[in-house]
Amino acid sequence: MEDWVSLGYLLSAALFIFGLKKLGHPRTAPFGNQLGALGMLVAVLTTILSMQLEGDAEWVLIGAGIALGSLIGYVMAVRVEMTGMPELVALFNGFGGAASALVALSEIQKYIDGGTIPTGLELTVTMVAAGLSALVGWMTLTGSLLAMYKLKGGVSVFGKWIKTPTWGPAWLNPVKVLLVIAVAVLIYLSIDDPTNTTYLWSIIGISCLLGLVLVLPIGGADMPVVVSLLNSLSGIAAAFTGFIIGNSALIIAGSLVGASGLILTFIMCKAMNRTLADVLFKSFGGSGEKESLTRTKVGSDPDEVAMMIDGAQKVIIVPGYGMAVSQCQHQVKEFADLVSEKFDTEVKYAIHPVAGRMPGHMNVLLAEANVPYEQLIEMDEINSEFPECDVAIVIGANDTTNPAARSGEGPLAGMPIIDADAARTVVIIKRSLSVGYAGVDNDLFYMDKTMMLFGDGKAMMTGLNNAIKEI
Ligand code: TAP
Repeated sequence: MEDWVSLGYLLSAALFIFGLKKLGHPRTAPFGNQLGALGMLVAVLTTILSMQLEGDAEWVLIGAGIALGSLIGYVMAVRVEMTGMPELVALFNGFGGAASALVALSEIQKYIDGGTIPTGLELTVTMVAAGLSALVGWMTLTGSLLAMYKLKGGVSVFGKWIKTPTWGPAWLNPVKVLLVIAVAVLIYLSIDDPTNTTYLWSIIGISCLLGLVLVLPIGGADMPVVVSLLNSLSGIAAAFTGFIIGNSALIIAGSLVGASGLILTFIMCKAMNRTLADVLFKSFGGSGEKESLTRTKVGSDPDEVAMMIDGAQKVIIVPGYGMAVSQCQHQVKEFADLVSEKFDTEVKYAIHPVAGRMPGHMNVLLAEANVPYEQLIEMDEINSEFPECDVAIVIGANDTTNPAARSGEGPLAGMPIIDADAARTVVIIKRSLSVGYAGVDNDLFYMDKTMMLFGDGKAMMTGLNNAIKEI
C-alpha cells in the first residue's frame, strides 16, 4: 500500500511540473491551471490515504477542514474583482507561509511530547529546518498581510479610513540584518535544547516583526515585486516543511513555487529597472503621496478622434489599469477590428510588464476578448515601432507611459516605459488628468500632439466605435 502513496505523490509532482509548463503561454495557461489543481487534489487524497494507513486519520477534522477551506476559498474567489486580485494573491501567500510554519511547529511539538522525531530525521536537521520554516513562514504571513493593506491603500477601523504607512529610515536596514542574525542564533541554541519552547516562540515573534519591517519601507510602484517575492517565500517555507515531515510532493511543489516566484521577481525587477536589493533596502517606489495637479488640458470628443484615425496606417493600442477597471477589452477589440477592416489600418498592442495590477493582467483581459496573441507585443520589442506609428491610443495607462520615469528622479525613476510619446499623435482615454498608481503627474497628457478623451474607458471606446462606424 505504501507504494500507492509514493505513486500518488509522484503523480501529483508530475502534474505540477506539466501544469507549470503549460502556464508559459496564454493559450495553454487555463489547461495548465487545471493540471495544477488536479495535482493538488491527488496530493491531498494521497496524504489522507497515508494518514489512514498510519491509523491516525481524524475524519471529522479532515472533513471540516476541507469543507471550511473550500467554502472560504470559493466565496473569496467568486467575490473578488479582477482589480482586487493582487490583494487576494498576497493574502493567499501569507496563509500558505503560515500553514507551512504551523505544520513544522506541530512536528516539533510531537518531538517535545514523545521524545522521538516522527520521520526519523536527525534532531539537528529537524531543528534547523523547523527554524527556517518558522522564519520564512511567519515572515511571509505578516509581510503579506501588510502588503495586502498597502495594495488596498489602507484599512477601515470602526468606519475610519487609516492609510497604510510607508516608512523606512536608513537605520532600519541594520535592524533587518540584526533580526535575521538573532533568528540564526536562536536556531543554533534550539539544537542543543530542543524542548525549550522559548527559543521557538522567540523565532516566531522575531520572524513576524521581520516581515513587517521588510515591507514597511517599500512604496507604491514596487509592491508587485514584493508580492511576487512573498509568493516565492511561501513556496520555500513549504519546501522546508516537506523536508521535516518527509513529504516529497510538498518539497517539489514548494521548490517549484519558490523558484518560479523568484524568477518572476527578477523579471519584474528588470522591467522596473530595479535590483532586488534596491527594492528591499532602498525604500524606492514612492511614499504613496500623490502629486497635486496644477495644469489643465482641454478634452477632445470621439468624433474628432475618429476623423483623425481615418487614414492612419498604423495604430498602437497601449492598455493599462483603467482598461481593467472599465472592463472595456471587448470594445477595444471591436475598435481594432473596425479600423483594420474599414481603414485597412495595422493594429498592434503594446504590453508593459507591470501594466495593471498583476503580472500578465493586460494579456489575460485581451485574451478574454479574443485578441490574437500575435498582436500583443512586449514593451522591448514594440518601442522601436512608435516613431512610425500614426496614432498611439493609451487606454487607462498612466505610469507605464509617463516620461517622468526617464528623468532619474521620483518614484518612477529608471522604470522603462512604453514610448507612446514617440508616436505622431497620442490619444489618451481616462476620466481625468489625475495621477496613476505611483502618484506622479504625467507630461504626456499636456503635449501638443496629445488628445485627451475624458471619460470612462468603456463609454469612450463605445463612443469612438460608433463614430468610426458613421464615417
Ligand atoms: P496606472 O498608472 O495605475 O494608471 C491607471 C489610470 O487608469 C489612472 O490614472 C486612472 O485615471 C485610469 N482609470 C481608472 N479607472 C478608469 C476608467 N474606468 N476608465 C478609464 N480610465 C480609468 O496604470 P498603469 O499605467 O497600468 O500602471 C500600473 C501601475 O501599477 C504601475 O505603477 C505598477 O508598478 C503598479 N502595479 C503594478 C502591478 C502589476 S504586477 N502589474 C501590481 C501592483 C501595482 P483617471 O482616474 O483619470 O481615470
